[in-house]
Amino acid sequence: MVEQIPGKVDMDKLVSLCKRRGYIFPSSEIYGGLGACYDYGPLGVELKNNVKNAWWKAVVQDRDDMVGLDASILMHPQTWVASGHVEGFADPLVECKQCHQRWRADHVKNGKCPACGGELTQPRMFNLMFKTFVGPVEDEASVVYLRPETAQGIFVNFENVLNSTRKKLPFGIAQVGKAFRNEITTGNFIFRMREFEQMEVEYFVRPGTDEQWFKHWVDERFNWYINLGIKRENLRLRQHAKDELAHYARDCYDIEYLFPMGWSELEGIANRTDFDLKQHSKYSGKDLSYFDEETKEHIIPYVIEPSAGVDRSVLAFLTDAYDEEKDKEGLRVILRLHPDLAPIKAAVLPLSRNEALLPLSKEVYNSLRKCWMVQYDDAQSIGRRYRRQDEIGTPFCITIDFQSLEDKQVTIRERDKMRQIRVPIEVLEATLDAKLNGEPFEELPPGGKKWLGFEE
Ligand code: GAP
Repeated sequence: MVEQIPGKVDMDKLVSLCKRRGYIFPSSEIYGGLGACYDYGPLGVELKNNVKNAWWKAVVQDRDDMVGLDASILMHPQTWVASGHVEGFADPLVECKQCHQRWRADHVKNGKCPACGGELTQPRMFNLMFKTFVGPVEDEASVVYLRPETAQGIFVNFENVLNSTRKKLPFGIAQVGKAFRNEITTGNFIFRMREFEQMEVEYFVRPGTDEQWFKHWVDERFNWYINLGIKRENLRLRQHAKDELAHYARDCYDIEYLFPMGWSELEGIANRTDFDLKQHSKYSGKDLSYFDEETKEHIIPYVIEPSAGVDRSVLAFLTDAYDEEKDKEGLRVILRLHPDLAPIKAAVLPLSRNEALLPLSKEVYNSLRKCWMVQYDDAQSIGRRYRRQDEIGTPFCITIDFQSLEDKQVTIRERDKMRQIRVPIEVLEATLDAKLNGEPFEELPPGGKKWLGFEE
């Protein structure tokens, strides 16, 4: 059993909210689910896309030393021999002689089966890569692997990217995509899955400048989470001990987050040296060196790799955003997601289902949805509808009432402090745009006024 961290949202509560509101479902649930695989629902896919877009903007769009890539999941099998995965991507497993369950040897405490107390076999190495076959014949010659990381797709394209973009060192290649690992120890919801997504950068630098660039990326990546609303006290850096480093790494820091079950890895930033390019040169016979115009020498660049999990980021953002407040109507559950990440940016809520409110409400809804993901909701009381939007993290609700028909103004209600302002419909889009981009809520557009919740 995982110990609950005091003051942290309970994992069960989060799982239940995700299911109830359409964020995340167990995979193929009607058949009983598939271990450590999950499906993202209508809100989950928006949140996940927003996380990936925020990452892409920060590491590709906002920088002139980065380009993107989308390599295929199936790669030439030699890739995984060169990378060391065929030989080394394995966990030691023991099997219970009684119930035949398998366990990671380093996770078994007293030498007995954690399920039935039975005797265990000696540890055997178990490779975590999923195998499949290309073509019609299922033999050893047609074996390929589902990639266990996106990184190798970048290394094998180093020369293609260099030749097609004429980038000079230092520069990097970014990629977002699925990865697959036949994990033995699963659990903790989307923290450790068998099919998951990574966001990886391979940043190529001159040897000797690697330590400086390593520090740069550790800072950049740490601040990315803070800028998207993660509380500083819930993030920390942990340097790997020498005996913990992967075979390719010279140095590595984990960005750890205080998940509901405790501090765990959110992202790893590694100094991979020239290991990968040298290995792929050796196994492919291709020269993957870089001609340095400054020194007129061929060099093998060093690589700094910030490697983040999309799903773990989603879990961290959801955990950090979850909040509850007691008030006279009971419990208000709020997802205080950063506006860039919130799946729905605004909800249009006519005060009631009265026919008279319909045309204007639909007009406002249809104009706003051209700009953002917007929901329309006219079911149940306005109070309940506000609560529903709070629980899914919608930053703003727009209410259309009978007065709106007269004065062509609507109310904007903010999720976090429940304050309300009233603004002319003609400046609604510009006002929402400003608020979604961080303008203080109390700042008013022309013709706007403070409405409710500003008393204190
Ligand atoms: N290319 C380096 C690499 O793959 P890693 O530490 O094995 O390094 C990087 O993985 C990130 O991918 C992790 O920090 C984590 O966020 C995510 N990740 C790894 N395995 C995962 C799994 N089974 N389920 C969900 N995310 C995973």
